[in-house]
Parts: sequence; structure tokens; C-alpha cells
Amino acid sequence: MKTLSYEFSPPKISCNIFINPELFLSDLLIGYLKKFSSKICIITDLNIKNLYGDKLLHHLRHHKLETFLQTIIPGEESKSRHSKAKLEDFLTSNHFEKDSCLIALGGGVVSDLTGFLASTYLRSIPYISIPTTLLSAVDAAIGGKTAVNTVHGKNLIGAFHHPLSVFIDPDLILSSPLQELKNGLAEVFKYSLIFDLDFFNKLNSIKTLSDLNNELIVSIVEKSLQIKTEIIKKDPFDQNLRKILNFGHSLGHALETASNHRLSHGQAVVLGILSESFLSKELGFLTYNEFLQIYKAFENLAMIPTIPNDVQKNDLVNALLKDKKNRHGKIGVVILKSIGKTIGYPYTELFSLEQLETCIDYLLENFQECPFELSID
Ligand SMILES: NC(=O)c1ccc[n+]([C@@H]2O[C@H](COP(=O)([O-])OP(=O)(O)OC[C@H]3O[C@@H](n4cnc5c(N)ncnc54)[C@H](O)[C@@H]3O)[C@@H](O)[C@H]2O)c1
Ligand SMILES: [Zn+2]
Repeated sequence: MKTLSYEFSPPKISCNIFINPELFLSDLLIGYLKKFSSKICIITDLNIKNLYGDKLLHHLRHHKLETFLQTIIPGEESKSRHSKAKLEDFLTSNHFEKDSCLIALGGGVVSDLTGFLASTYLRSIPYISIPTTLLSAVDAAIGGKTAVNTVHGKNLIGAFHHPLSVFIDPDLILSSPLQELKNGLAEVFKYSLIFDLDFFNKLNSIKTLSDLNNELIVSIVEKSLQIKTEIIKKDPFDQNLRKILNFGHSLGHALETASNHRLSHGQAVVLGILSESFLSKELGFLTYNEFLQIYKAFENLAMIPTIPNDVQKNDLVNALLKDKKNRHGKIGVVILKSIGKTIGYPYTELFSLEQLETCIDYLLENFQECPFELSID
């Protein structure tokens, strides 16, 4: 069993992370829940309910834990104030109290929503996470950033609320669709690019996604979380160093919003990383050869998506202007100094829209679907 943890104070926060096959229905989880929780609500989406949610519900009830299960519709649209309000009503009408506990069973949509729900219900109750996608295991479920989207943009309403613990079972992750593995690898590559050249080289040695097995997933998740927890410990509230975790996300979030979530978070992050690496090269930090290595890494694993052809330059501009990291109308972007290193304090550079135009043009010229249907008559 691999274990990691982070803690800091004030306020006193501690989070334990367990990584092991067969954790999902383990005694460890039962023992953990029995220690502190009177009432439990598993929050999951409809896909995961059928695959794992019902099994977990029966397992906990079998061990005499008073457990409920609530579902959301799969997809980013469910990360909303509306879903949160419905769940709040369910918890209230079923008399969930301060020592009740939520379990986020699912991908990043479920963990972001559940974490935010737990942060405000009765002014905060505990929650634990059981990630079922690689993306949530290496990123969304850990670190305490919780949020919902609004029509104005991604993650605009949220709070910091850390899970008490995270149970990562590689069996669940490996059973997810291929595209979900690619989405998670986008964040994994992000860690390597901002922090660790050796890790980038190790990831580059993966020739095909069918190489991914339990052992490799455990080691990728462990390495990614070592990097993430080290950064969180130094900057729990996103005031300085933690900003480097946003590498690829300024343009990435804009693409997600501008495409109306037809590009998933992970797909948008791949393109965000490519365009922000392109910018780092244009600014004279990254060499052309390094930029090419990054591009090839994604190309080799068939991770580069296309941008839907109705996404216009203006849509990206509008989405960029609504990013919550903006300051005085300027857009913050993390710049790579080399593979494995970002520029130092203040960790993000502020750019005007005009300065980011090369990035936007790079994206639309190279990755947009062909605007016309080709027909061969
Ligand atoms: N809080 C953070 O720090 C943070 C970090 C990164 C991403 N995020 C957020 O995470 C979200 C994206 O998360 P995601 O990529 O996990 O997407 P997701 O939660 O939407 O899951 C993707 C799809 O895969 C399905 N699925 C999940 N696990 C499965 C499994 N084991 N088998 C079969 N199907 C499965 C889900 O039902 C869903 O349809 C975004 O909203 C993003 O903003 C948050
Ligand atoms: Zn992300």
C-alpha cells in the first residue's frame, strides 16, 4: 500500500491518501468510516452508480453503516448551483448532521461538486473521495479546491475544503474509458512539465496506452501526488507557488468554456499546455526542440484533440476575459523556463489580450476541425 499525506495549520487540515488495488471494498475503508461517521451519503453520477455505486452502498449497509446514495447526471453541466441545491435539500430532509460524512465516488465533476457541497452544508461537514478517473485521482480529488460552474465560466463559485482522506484504487481507474485515461494523463504530463524532467522522460517511455496496468497506474499516481502535495504544503491557499499547477489551464479553461464543454477538461488541458508551451517558446524561454518534445509526447499517445469548427476567436477571447485568475484586465499564464521548470516568483506572467493573440491563432490554425465537409463525388 502506498500512502501519502499532507497537513498544515492554521486552520488545522490533514488529508491521508491511500493508493492500492482492491481498496474500494476494503476493510480499511469500513474501519475508517466507522471511526467517525454516523450517517453517510455517497454522491456519484449515473454511470458510476451502475458500475460501482450500488456495490459500495450495499457493502457499507452490510457493515451496518447508515448509508444513502444520490446521483447526478454525468457530465460537466451537473457541476452547477442547481445540482448542489438539490443535494442540499436531500441532506436536510434526511437530517444529515455535523458528524455525517459525504463520499465523492467518481470523476472530477463529482469530487468538485461534493467537496463544495460538504464545505457549505451546516457550514462544513467532512467528506472523503474515491476517484474513478485518472484525472480525479491525480488532481481533482486532492488539494481542497472545490467549485461549481456558472454560465459565465468555470469554477467561479467555490471554496477550499479538503477531503479527510482519499482512497485510490487503480482497478477503478483502469476500467474507465480510454479517453478518460488520456484526460488524466494530460494532468500527469502537466506535473512533469512544471516540476520534474525525469518524470517527463519516464512518461515519454510509455509507447501506447495499452502499456498502462495496475503497477504503472500506481506509480504514475504516486509520483503525481508527491509533486502536488509538496506544492500544496508550501502554498495551501493558492497565493504563490501553487499557481504553477495552473500551467496549461488559462487557455485550457477558455477552450473548455468556448467549446461548451464539448472539449473535456483533459482535452482542453492538452491544447492549453501546447499553446502555453508555444508562448513560452515565443518568449525565448523554451527551446524549439523542447517544444517539439512536448508536442511529440502528446502526439505519440494520440492525445491531441481537435477544436470544434464553430468555436470562434471571439469565443476564446470572451472566455479568457472571465478567468478568475485575471488581474486588472490582464490574463495570468504560467510560463515554462524549460521542461521540468517554470519561471519563478510571482509564478504567473500577466498578458494583455493582444499579447495572447499569437497563442489563440496558434490553436485555431493548427487544431481546429476542417471547417468544410469534404465530399468525394
Ligand atoms: N478541484 C481541482 O483541483 C480540479 C483539478 C482538475 C480538474 N478538476 C475538474 O474535474 C472535472 C473533470 O473531471 P473528469 O475528467 O474526471 O470528468 P468527469 O467527472 O466528468 O468523468 C468523466 C466521465 O467518465 C465517466 N466515468 C468516470 N469514472 C468511470 C469509470 N471508472 N468507468 C467508466 N466511466 C467512468 C463519468 O461518468 C463521466 O461520464 C472538471 O470539472 C474539472 O474542472 C478539478
Ligand atoms: Zn486541470
